Amino acid sequence: MCGIVATIGSRQAAPLLMQGLQRLEYRGYDSAGIATTSNNQLHCRKVEGKLIRLREQLDRSPVAGTCGIGHTRWATHGKPDALNAHPHLDSADEVAVVQNGIIENHRLLRQQLQQEGVCFRSQTDTEVVPHLVARALGQLQGEVAEADLLRLAVTRAIDQLEGAYALAVIWAGLPQELVVVRHQAPLLIGLGEGQFFCASDTPALAEVASTILSLDNGEMARLTPLGVELFDPSGQRTQRTPQPLCGAEHVADKRQFRHFMLKEIHEQADVATAWVERCLYGPPTDHLSPVLDDVGHVQLLACGTSRHAALVGAHLLEQLADIPTTVHYASEFRYAPPPLAAKTLTIAVTQSGETADTLAALTIELERRRSREGLGEPLQLLGITNRPHSSLGRLVPQIIDIAAGLETGVAATKSFLGQMLALYSIALRLASQRHSGVSASEQLIACREGLEQLPEQLSALLQTMDQQCATLAHEFAETQDVIYLGRGINYPIALEGALKLKEISYIHAEGYPAGEMKHGPIALVDQYVPVVSIATPGRVFEKVLSNAQEAKARDARLIGIGPECADTEIFDVLLPIPPVHELISPLLTVIPMQLLAYHVAAHRGLDVDQPRNLAKSVTVE
Ligand code: AGP
Repeated sequence: MCGIVATIGSRQAAPLLMQGLQRLEYRGYDSAGIATTSNNQLHCRKVEGKLIRLREQLDRSPVAGTCGIGHTRWATHGKPDALNAHPHLDSADEVAVVQNGIIENHRLLRQQLQQEGVCFRSQTDTEVVPHLVARALGQLQGEVAEADLLRLAVTRAIDQLEGAYALAVIWAGLPQELVVVRHQAPLLIGLGEGQFFCASDTPALAEVASTILSLDNGEMARLTPLGVELFDPSGQRTQRTPQPLCGAEHVADKRQFRHFMLKEIHEQADVATAWVERCLYGPPTDHLSPVLDDVGHVQLLACGTSRHAALVGAHLLEQLADIPTTVHYASEFRYAPPPLAAKTLTIAVTQSGETADTLAALTIELERRRSREGLGEPLQLLGITNRPHSSLGRLVPQIIDIAAGLETGVAATKSFLGQMLALYSIALRLASQRHSGVSASEQLIACREGLEQLPEQLSALLQTMDQQCATLAHEFAETQDVIYLGRGINYPIALEGALKLKEISYIHAEGYPAGEMKHGPIALVDQYVPVVSIATPGRVFEKVLSNAQEAKARDARLIGIGPECADTEIFDVLLPIPPVHELISPLLTVIPMQLLAYHVAAHRGLDVDQPRNLAKSVTVE
């Protein structure tokens, strides 16, 4: 949530900051701002709304300086307006701060500062920081060497902070220096030619930095035009070798598509092709052996769309590999973890690898498990992510990289497919361990064969379904509510279809297990509430059709997702998918769900890639 960037070196800061912010806009986009230092003065510009408005303001009123910080915001404290936009300044307009995260004890600090006579200009939690830094600068000036002054002032300020945050700080008094610190919110240093950077995420560093350093929790960095100095949490100088940053893969490009989301939906055939080559035909992934060798129970931790992928995975693990599996909302798990059980494999599923709730849940589990290592229980933890170099990657040694490529649209699409496929890999592997050799179950064989066909089927489906969903979207333009039904392995797809529609079209939608309708939700059904029903051949095919009939009998307009056959003639509109094995079907039924949500939102003229109130990476609790 919120993107921060900073730069220092020989080039003008403002254009570099704007370029970085543009690539971080997916993290928040309700307001934005930058501040630079030059000639012992601070120059700050901030606006309500998207970056385009900040760009316009900078065109009218440019800022000079080769050192600066920038921010694109997702509001937590204080509504999204120019006053609450970052950077925040001290009373003398000399210290500027950008922050990503939450300062939890900001109310107490604000009261203390107000008692000292400080006047606040915003309602944000962040504004306490520049005031605290300014106060510390006043105390330290003349007491410590100039090279240590800003860093020690920031140290003194953060000693008083509670919460999870990443900060970048500049001071007019030392216009050729910037200090950054990470405390449980991501922050990376980028090293370019004569120019140094700091950012919340790698896309902001692409093309400007050749190597990166990821700060650890509690680490601070002092950046000057001469280079970067790292300090550990106790304030001692420390060193690490920077890692190369491969630029191209971090640059977002819409290609010929109108929106990133549409492009990313269409990239799913490539995600599947790469997965089939890697996981069905590639060499075995030995590095996962220690965690996957003796599994009695699986628990999956995730949020949002990632949790829906986890639900598909749970179905596979139970039905294909016979392993009891539970899926937890990470935000619930962190405050009510279930009792520990032996041989439990814990899997965190997160596209970004930065979701605060998922990381917190995993950290709790890691600590609980470590305390049992002495009893001879191995640490069975695994992360599934699209960002292996994220905070998740540093928390868990065993990672499955879904390798879906940069996902820019806030609504997750190709990463959902990648996450499901990663869970198919795990389920297939655990199932083969159980049904080895000649006894390989029929389901397992059918599943493997089905997966081999997936890239071709996806590619054909994406071609035909796009236009069909675009046509159908017109019907939804004025709709207020939609019900999505699915059963078994397609129940999570009904949830995902409803979530996608809500997120980007702002139409109320609910996903239900189809058999549950008659226990209450059917009261909502009438001619104004369309019902989207996933009806794919398998164990519950007839049951799903009966549930759909029940809705039709109450005048609902029925949209079916399933193969073309006599049974699916009950639907008013059928979005056809190939007749595949039941266990493979979610990988295809999700396509019409995504395309329908996309076209409805695009038809309503909404900002598909940056829907209101959302952000790609939810790094606050
Ligand atoms: C997906 O469309 C959503 N934007 C959201 O639910 C997302 O899946 C959730 O915030 C979890 O994110 P993560 O996968 O990065 O952990």
